[in-house]
Amino acid sequence: MKAATWTGVNEVSVEDVPEPTLLNDRDVILKISQSVTCGSDLHLIGGYIPFMRAGDVMGHEFIGEVVEVGKEVRDRKVGDRVVVAPFAACGSCWYCKQELYSLCDNGNPNPGITEGLWGQSPGGCFGYSHAMGGCAGSHAEFMRVPYADVGTFVVPEGVSDTRALFASDAASTGWMGADLAGTEPGDVVAVWGAGGVGQMAARAAMLLGAEQVVVIDRVPERLAQVRDNVGAEAVDYTTTDVIAELRERTGGRGPDVCLEAVGMEAHAPGAPGIYDQVKQQLRLQTDRPTAVREAIMACRKGGTVFTLGVFAAMVDKFPLGAAMNKGLTLRGAQVHAQRYIPELLERMRRDELVTEHLATHVMPLTDAPEGYRLFKEKEDGCVRAVFLP
Ligand SMILES: NC(=O)c1ccc[n+]([C@@H]2O[C@H](COP(=O)([O-])OP(=O)(O)OC[C@H]3O[C@@H](n4cnc5c(N)ncnc54)[C@H](O)[C@@H]3O)[C@@H](O)[C@H]2O)c1
Ligand SMILES: [Zn+2]
Ligand SMILES: [Zn+2]
Repeated sequence: MKAATWTGVNEVSVEDVPEPTLLNDRDVILKISQSVTCGSDLHLIGGYIPFMRAGDVMGHEFIGEVVEVGKEVRDRKVGDRVVVAPFAACGSCWYCKQELYSLCDNGNPNPGITEGLWGQSPGGCFGYSHAMGGCAGSHAEFMRVPYADVGTFVVPEGVSDTRALFASDAASTGWMGADLAGTEPGDVVAVWGAGGVGQMAARAAMLLGAEQVVVIDRVPERLAQVRDNVGAEAVDYTTTDVIAELRERTGGRGPDVCLEAVGMEAHAPGAPGIYDQVKQQLRLQTDRPTAVREAIMACRKGGTVFTLGVFAAMVDKFPLGAAMNKGLTLRGAQVHAQRYIPELLERMRRDELVTEHLATHVMPLTDAPEGYRLFKEKEDGCVRAVFLP
């Protein structure tokens, strides 16, 4: 079958790979109908998470149809149309019982690398390197999904594939940030990054009752979507001092909740941006934490900063003094999508959560290399490239 794989050098190619088969009794095989790019893939393609091997199938945000069912699968049957959580989770370990699904003790069959890096291993994510389980991704015609009763969700009638697709990652990640950062009715919420994740975080904050939501980016098409499709305020960080601007817009106090949806490849204008780029290239730091730093400085005293953006290891010039002395709560997580997908699908059915505008580019799977190029360069207004196998 055809699949989009990492070439080993900053690119994706399409090649023939063996079709997946059932390995465990709780697996299903899906025929993929749509699979989409995520900002997290860019960190892999760029080599910032050095545990991919050439030929690994990418993709972890997808929708498909069940075509084969393992002996122990109870609640799914052939023909079900399902979206799938990006992290495989067993549903019965201590972490799954706390609904911390991306931390599942059984989701990553290869925990040694991340135990070495971080002291303990989080779970395993599809198409996300051998550090995160080494499971084949979804940019393919067929895919094996383990723990299917826990990680797959039947899409309600009336919700289109393209809308439901984003429940798997962008919308569930955004919702998790707004939820676990403790967004309360009346709050002011600032979001760094207007990609799929940032836009969905902003929408979640609005639906959870935030009074004012401000999204920060520099890409005009994305800022336009923030205004027109999400209904939040948009700030271009290249034309203003973000911290001063947020203070101004919040009566001098700063946002109650700051959601960072940028990650390790953040841009910054001027000397600070060059400094971080050079240190990252020389491996003196693994990540560029520009937006996290800014969020910590902008957040009101006693507020919460939540890192949705992916980071790999060590950063430089981290304003720990500001975080401590301002009494901030710092949090972050990989997505516990299993916890949010059912509610998101229901809100999609009620038209409260609309996601189709994120799918700016829809193309055959064989065009994945060009799709990733447009997505990475943010060319032609690309927010997400959706592949049709
Ligand atoms: N926690 C999770 O489970 C999870 C899930 C999905 C994605 N992610 C991560 O979330 C981040 C965003 O994902 P995405 O798919 O929306 O990515 P994306 O690449 O589409 O969007 C990132 C946006 O950040 C903007 N940006 C860059 N520097 C900035 C700065 N200094 N200030 C404000 N904005 C800046 C870019 O212009 C871009 O629009 C990535 O790091 C991704 O890895 C995490
Ligand atoms: Zn993702
Ligand atoms: Zn588990």
